[in-house]
Amino acid sequence: MSARSDDPAITFFGGKGGVGKTTVAAAAALRLADSGARTLLISTDPAHSLGDALETRLGDRPRRVADCLWAAEPDADAAVRRRVEEVTDDAYAALPRDIMPAVRRHLEHAAASPGMAESALADLLIGAMEQVPGEWDRLVVDSAPTGHLLRMLALPELLTPWVRGLARQREQAVDADRFASDIVGAGREQAEDPLLERLHARRRRLERAAARLRGDACVRLVLIPRRMVLAETERAADQLAEAGFRLGPVIINQIPEHPDEEILGAARRRFAACGAVEIPLADKEPTGAARLRALDRA
Ligand SMILES: Nc1ncnc2c1ncn2[C@@H]1O[C@H](COP(=O)(O)OP(=O)(O)OP(=O)(O)O)[C@@H](O)[C@H]1O
Ligand SMILES: [Mg+2]
Repeated sequence: MSARSDDPAITFFGGKGGVGKTTVAAAAALRLADSGARTLLISTDPAHSLGDALETRLGDRPRRVADCLWAAEPDADAAVRRRVEEVTDDAYAALPRDIMPAVRRHLEHAAASPGMAESALADLLIGAMEQVPGEWDRLVVDSAPTGHLLRMLALPELLTPWVRGLARQREQAVDADRFASDIVGAGREQAEDPLLERLHARRRRLERAAARLRGDACVRLVLIPRRMVLAETERAADQLAEAGFRLGPVIINQIPEHPDEEILGAARRRFAACGAVEIPLADKEPTGAARLRALDRA
């Protein structure tokens, strides 16, 4: 897979647990980088294993791992802490002081919920998307298993009405304040409301991300030739298409020397329209740049 101008800027690798998403994402990112595209490879699976696939240590910030390739395993916990601080600041600005202890307790509970980690990772993903094009030419995303990927892709859209609703409430509060100060003749210059500005900026950012996930991104599903995996992959492909996401060629991975021809044939037929790339089951676990490059054709 070389970087052509019609390649999507952002590629997600998804699929059922253990089929080879991380391996194939790393191999594809290496190939893009080898063709000269400055490529960022990130994982949105809280159980990161990109570093294992590349046989190197990765962290929260992108690290250069090959000539044109940078990789990162974003730290969801750190992102949740940042998010909670941000929301707490907003609350301090917007809410009466006496309810702050209760708000703080609520946020502490929310921070511990799994949805918060997912939403923080979605935020990091949006941040990475904003740097492509720019800092990087291509973004390759190693995703968590299917259900998580579907939720992650839908998240910017799900959060937009919520942020829009908050902005509306804040607008009303600001209007009421202005009305009150007009009545008492306070008459001071009407400064913009910083919280409202922040909420509007957040809404615009989510809307842009939701649009780009449809326009500039594609999802490549990885599967192995097994009945249950094929069934789940078919469902995922239907759900993604229904939600308006673009499907790139699927990858039929880990094809053994003597595959179940019935399943393999069914997979080829099912995904003929979007294309299918086949990767054999390697004798040796394909980790490290050299073996990943040898996997080929992803
Ligand atoms: N073509 C292949 N040939 C041989 N082994 C492979 C191949 N592709 C992947 N593997 C091995 O299969 C295992 C699972 O691969 P990988 O971690 O990439 O899957 P995953 O879909 O990302 O898993 P998870 O759902 O846990 O994130 C790893 O040990 C990997 O090295
Ligand atoms: Mg993985």
